Amino acid sequence: MNISNISNPFVVSKSIPNELFCDRKEETAILIRQIENGRDVVLVSPRRMGKTGLIHHLFRQEPIQDRYYTFFIDIYSASTLQEMCYLFGKAVFERLKSKKTQHWETFFQTIKSLRPAFKLDAFTGEPSFEFGIGAIERPETTMEEIFSYLEAADNPCIVAFDEFQQIAEFQEKRTEAMLRGMIQNCSNTSFIFSGSKQHTISQMFHSKARPFYQSAQLMELQPLNCDVYADFATELFSKYEKSLNRDVVNQVYNDYNGTTWYLQMMMNELFSLTPVGETCDITKLQTARQNIIEIQDGVYQTQLSMLSPKQKQLLQAIVQEGIIKSVTSAAFIKKYSLDGASSVQSAMKGLIEKALISTVDSQYHIEDYFFAEWLKKNY
Ligand SMILES: Nc1ncnc2c1ncn2[C@@H]1O[C@H](COP(=O)(O)OP(=O)(O)O)[C@@H](O)[C@H]1O
Ligand SMILES: [Mg+2]
Repeated sequence: MNISNISNPFVVSKSIPNELFCDRKEETAILIRQIENGRDVVLVSPRRMGKTGLIHHLFRQEPIQDRYYTFFIDIYSASTLQEMCYLFGKAVFERLKSKKTQHWETFFQTIKSLRPAFKLDAFTGEPSFEFGIGAIERPETTMEEIFSYLEAADNPCIVAFDEFQQIAEFQEKRTEAMLRGMIQNCSNTSFIFSGSKQHTISQMFHSKARPFYQSAQLMELQPLNCDVYADFATELFSKYEKSLNRDVVNQVYNDYNGTTWYLQMMMNELFSLTPVGETCDITKLQTARQNIIEIQDGVYQTQLSMLSPKQKQLLQAIVQEGIIKSVTSAAFIKKYSLDGASSVQSAMKGLIEKALISTVDSQYHIEDYFFAEWLKKNY
C-alpha cells in the first residue's frame, strides 16, 4: 500500500491497513498460538479499546490467511437467535461469493433450510442470497446447518462472534445452552468471542452454572503501551513531514486512559490541524478536542433526546462529579436534588443499558469521554 495515498494516517474506521495499525504484536501472536492449538478465546475489554480491530488484524495475518477460512460476525445489534443466525448465514455466504460455483452449491446443499432464498442470476450465473431475517423460520436448524457446513470445509475455520455477550439477552432463553452444545461439537472450527460488557461476558465464561463455563481462554485486551503509541504517532507525523511533540501524546494518553479510539480520534484531528513543515505542540489540544465534540454534536443531541428527564438529571450529576462510587448515597442525592434512591437506581439502569454509563471497579462514569466533555459544555 502506498501510504501517501491516505490523506490522514490516523484511521478511525473499521478496517485499518497493516501499516497504520499500531502494535498488538504480542496479542496477535498469542491469538495465533491459541487458535493453532485448538483453544477458543474470549477477548474482553472496555469498548473502543481495539478488540474488533485486533480480530480483523489477526485475520489479515499470513499464517491465518494461508490456512484458515475466517468469518467475522458482529452481533451487537441482534436481539434474537433468528437475527444472529441471519448475520451468521450472511457472513458465511458473503465470504463464499468469490469462490467457485462448487463451494456455494455445497453451501446450499448443507444449509437446506435456506435453500429457497438462494437464487442464481439467469444471465450471469452469479449466486445471490435473497433472504430477509424472516426467511429463517427455524433458527436452531439453520444454525446447526451452518456449523455443519463449516465443519465440512476443506480448511479449518475461525469464527469470531463480536459482542458475544448479547446472546445472554436474547428472547430465546435457551440460546446459550444450545450454542454451547453446537460449538462443543465443532472440531474444524475455532472461535473467538469478544465482549465489551465485561461483567456480562465474564459471568458467561466464569460462572459454574453457565453453559460456556471455562470453555474458552480469557484474554483481556489492555490499552496500547504509551511509549509504543508515541513512537507510532510521531513516526506517522514525520512521514508526512510534520512533527509531533511527545508530550502531546502523553497528555492525550492520560486524558483518555489510553483508550485506543480516543487516541486515534485526537491524533487524526491534531494531524489535520498541523500544516506540513510545522510542529504539533500542546497548544493545539484544546482546538482538537473542541472540533471533535462539534462534529459529534448531532449524535450527542440525539442521544440526549432519547433519555427521560430523570436519566438526564442523573447524567448531569455524574458529569459534574466525574467518577462516582455510590449514586444512591444521601449526600449525592441531596447535592443534585435527585428523586430518591430507588428512582436514581432505575434511571441508572436505563443509562447503563444504553451504554452511556459504565462501571469499573464498582464506580460509575460516563462511557464516552467526548460526550462527557460535550455535556459539560452544552448542558
Ligand atoms: N492497534 C490499533 N492501531 C490503530 N488504531 C486502532 C488499533 N486498534 C483499534 N484501533 C482503532 O480504535 C478504534 C476502536 O477500536 P475497536 O476495535 O472498534 O474497539 P472495540 O472493538 O474494543 O470497541 C477503531 O476506530 C479502530 O480503528
Ligand atoms: Mg468492537
